[in-house]
Formats: sequence, C-alpha cells, structure tokens
Amino acid sequence: MKLTTFATGYVGLVTGACLAEVGHTVVCMDVDQGKIDKLKAGVIPIWEPGLQPIVERNVAEGRLRFTTDVEEAVKHAEVQFIAVGTLPDEDGSADL
Ligand SMILES: NC(=O)c1ccc[n+]([C@@H]2O[C@H](COP(=O)([O-])OP(=O)(O)OC[C@H]3O[C@@H](n4cnc5c(N)ncnc54)[C@H](O)[C@@H]3O)[C@@H](O)[C@H]2O)c1
Repeated sequence: MKLTTFATGYVGLVTGACLAEVGHTVVCMDVDQGKIDKLKAGVIPIWEPGLQPIVERNVAEGRLRFTTDVEEAVKHAEVQFIAVGTLPDEDGSADL
C-alpha cells in the first residue's frame, strides 16, 4: 500500500521505516526542513538503535522517501498516519 506518516519524530519515523521494511511504499512528511534535509542525507535525527540500516535499505530500494511538501504527502497515500507532537493546553495538559 501507499502510506504517509506526518512527522519524522520517534513515532512517525519509526512507524514509516518499519512499514516500508514490510513492503509498503511510504512517504514521511515533516515541517522541520532541517530534519528532512538530514534524512535525505542519510542522517537519522533521533536516537533509535537499529533504525539506520532499515531507513538506508528502504530508501535505497525506493520504498521510503522524505518531504516537507504536505500536498505531495497527502496525494501519495491511501492511508495516512498523523504522528505530530501534541501541543500543551493552557494548563499544561496535552491538548488532544
Ligand atoms: N514517543 C513515544 O513513545 C510516544 C508514545 C505515545 C504517544 N506519543 C505521541 O505521538 C506523537 C509524536 O511523538 P514523538 O515522540 O514522535 O514526537 P517528536 O517530538 O519526536 O516528533 C514530533 C515531530 O512532529 C513534527 N511536526 C510538528 N508539527 C507537524 C506538522 N504539522 N506536520 C508534520 N510534522 C509536524 C515535528 O517537526 C517533529 O519532528 C505525540 O503526539 C506524542 O504525544 C509518543
């Protein structure tokens, strides 16, 4: 399937990479240009042991790519996972 994860943090990047590893074609989108630039250069911007070779393999095999372009990410996918950070409410609790 064609899938998108919105965000390349701990949840979005690991989810996207693992879904690519099992054969899906995945676009990972993030608003952070610096993170996307690092990922495109082969640098993993989070500490997650074992993730680097999974990302490298799936990028090389064309099942995983990274973008800041939200329109491209939406158009790509049949199923879209939202894994962006949760903002705090005024009282500091999670604003769901
Ligand atoms: N990490 C965990 O173990 C865990 C567990 C349960 C729930 N969660 C929830 O999952 C979500 C993600 O957590 P995380 O640990 O991956 O966070 P993270 O801080 O590692 O990553 C969040 C990412 O979201 C990106 N982002 C923010 N707004 C965006 C937007 N509009 N479009 C695209 N990307 C955007 C940021 O640039 C960042 O890369 C949070 O809501 C968190 O509460 C996380």
